[in-house]
Amino acid sequence: MNRIAEFNAEANAVTDREHEEQLRLLQALSDAVERQAAASEVASMLEALISYSEAHFMSEELLMRMKSYDDYEDHQDDHVNMLTSMQFMAVAHEAGHTALIPGKVHDVLNFITLHIATRDKRLADYLRLGN
Ligand SMILES: [Fe+2]
Repeated sequence: MNRIAEFNAEANAVTDREHEEQLRLLQALSDAVERQAAASEVASMLEALISYSEAHFMSEELLMRMKSYDDYEDHQDDHVNMLTSMQFMAVAHEAGHTALIPGKVHDVLNFITLHIATRDKRLADYLRLGN
């Protein structure tokens, strides 16, 4: 395996682990909302999810830029949409509009699952092909 292929394989492995962690954080938030956990617990889970997602999206975007990736703009739009939804949840939760949270968590979980299966998979395949 040459150096570019090694770098790309490692980048894909790191991204896979980050997706697992992101889904784990979202599922934990979903479970906490469902069992009506304390507001402070839900708030800190939202904060952890947002921080992790910001860092993860930034690293994916950096990788796409480094590789002059052709689907960068649409892919980044997805990231912006997901972060906006997460921030909306945090603001709604802070304002006490907790009834909005379960539906929004469900929407984000569906969106992110689709994003990983489509746009992130396309990026992983692009790197796997040695770009
Ligand atoms: Fe992505």
